[in-house]
Amino acid sequence: MKNWSFFREAVKSFRTTGSIAASSPALVKKLVGPLPDNRPLVIIELGPGDGCVTRAILNKVHPQSTVTAYEINETFVENLASIKDERLTVLAVSAERLTDFFAPGTVDFVVSSLPLSMIDKTTKETILRQAQTVLKSEGRFLQFQYALQDYGLLKDYFHRVTVSFTMANLPPAFIYSCSLGIV
Ligand SMILES: C[S@@+](CC[C@H](N)C(=O)[O-])C[C@H]1O[C@@H](n2cnc3c(N)ncnc32)[C@H](O)[C@@H]1O
Repeated sequence: MKNWSFFREAVKSFRTTGSIAASSPALVKKLVGPLPDNRPLVIIELGPGDGCVTRAILNKVHPQSTVTAYEINETFVENLASIKDERLTVLAVSAERLTDFFAPGTVDFVVSSLPLSMIDKTTKETILRQAQTVLKSEGRFLQFQYALQDYGLLKDYFHRVTVSFTMANLPPAFIYSCSLGIV
């Protein structure tokens, strides 16, 4: 998908897209950086959009991993069908439905590009509670955001939250890595 197509979707649905351009390669690289490649992983991706993060995950992880992507924008869902990889399942449903598809404690990583700052608090809390439920005790929740306003909320759900930053994106972005901290 070309960047102008992303821009068109952003103009049509800015509240859910939350950005005018797809994430830069530098941001994507930082976001998927914590994913190990030496063992099969169960991964959930939230808000794949044009698939830039999806492709990076698939390129990086072990061949026996699975990636389940939740996307509510129909145009993005249609375009994601061009990614021919049997490890990928695209669900045209909201990220509020993680526990409909995953049992508690079964997921290694949740990788999220959701525009948290534009999502109402009740919905955000539902998503984070469900992410907390489906993740394994050693699992991690990875998320980027353009400002730090949801740091406190993430701390309510995850014991350890670390933050890094990249200037190499429009706009510059913070990347959170959150773990339950049980192990
Ligand atoms: C900032 S874009 C990220 C797109 C791409 N991953 C990237 O990094 O460039 C946010 C994406 O989240 C999707 N989205 C927003 N709310 C959602 C929800 N509740 N469930 C699933 N996807 C959602 C939007 O449709 C959009 O594709």
